[in-house]
Amino acid sequence: MNKELKFNNGKFTIMTLGDLHENLHLDTGLKIRKRLDMHNLVKMGILAFKPDLIVLLGDTLNEKDDSEGFTDYKTALKDILKPIIESGIPFCYVLGNHEHDQGQEELIVKAYEEIETCIGVNDTTAPRGNFNCNILVKNTAGTEDILNLWFIDSNNCCDSDASVYDWVHKDQIQWYEEKAAKIKEEHGGKTIPAILFQHTPVIEEYKLLREAKPYEIPFAAKGHYKFSDKYYMKKDGVEGYLGEGPCSPCINEGQFESWKKTGDVVAAFFGHDHLNDFTGYVDGIMLGQNKTSGFCCYTDGCNSCVRITTVEESNPRDVKSKVYHFKELGLDSMSLGPIQKRITDRQSINMHIASYIAAGVAGVAGVAAIVKKLKK
Ligand SMILES: [Fe+2]
Ligand SMILES: [Fe+2]
Repeated sequence: MNKELKFNNGKFTIMTLGDLHENLHLDTGLKIRKRLDMHNLVKMGILAFKPDLIVLLGDTLNEKDDSEGFTDYKTALKDILKPIIESGIPFCYVLGNHEHDQGQEELIVKAYEEIETCIGVNDTTAPRGNFNCNILVKNTAGTEDILNLWFIDSNNCCDSDASVYDWVHKDQIQWYEEKAAKIKEEHGGKTIPAILFQHTPVIEEYKLLREAKPYEIPFAAKGHYKFSDKYYMKKDGVEGYLGEGPCSPCINEGQFESWKKTGDVVAAFFGHDHLNDFTGYVDGIMLGQNKTSGFCCYTDGCNSCVRITTVEESNPRDVKSKVYHFKELGLDSMSLGPIQKRITDRQSINMHIASYIAAGVAGVAGVAAIVKKLKK
């Protein structure tokens, strides 16, 4: 297949999929139904929006492959990505912390490489991570590169008190800057606008949020890690849904500042946070979250989604992006129960919180009853 990307009638459309957390083996009816739901969402996204590229935002697989010759990864990936492969639309991916978790990143990258429509090739000059690359996109006529796409490995979790999640390190940032400078030089000193894809979000996403007022807390999201003592709401102008505090790494070695300095990144899209699908601008750069597009991880009822991002050839710096949820696309779930199908995001989250509180109260009451009995 021709692996060159180009605009189509003046437009380039990208469909991104968030954390699928798919299984290697479909050994129960429920797992089969979850995959069918995900396939229906992907098929509908392809049919409705006719993307020129599909991007998987990491945590696609989260199980270890113990098979000989890692056949399970190869077989499972081909089935998980069936609607994408059958569509013939080129796709690319980033690795998530769960792929790193297995310590089998190289095998996963090899399994992707075997799929003909997968167009990403790991750039071995990158000093860190197992899959970093960039792909240039030509104009409709195919005469000029007018858009660049970055795929950055945000590495694994950390066993450090300083940060639960690993981060994009200085050496990787330097690699990006040098490569961006080379691309600029090869294009006569012109900065090619770029869209970046990465699993773990940059901590600057918190700049899209504000602290919730006390009466807003039931509708707000609790921050994570160093923000865990606060509750957050979206700032005015931020579109989409905030279901949880962004789970960014706590250590920041300047990746976002580097984008500003380099001047090419106009939008960056992330996975990792399964409940968030908001977008907003920080210092002129669009930061966008992709909720899970699957049904195998913590989710919020029937709101798994695809994100559709479009760029016009007339102004590639002007990126438009919108999410489309499973329900909005007129789909009916085979894997979710009657309640989960109908409740809203917030109802689902509040039900989870209420169940934890109820379990906690029951636990305390149980302990108190035992202590009382022992005293007698
Ligand atoms: Fe995930
Ligand atoms: Fe993740």
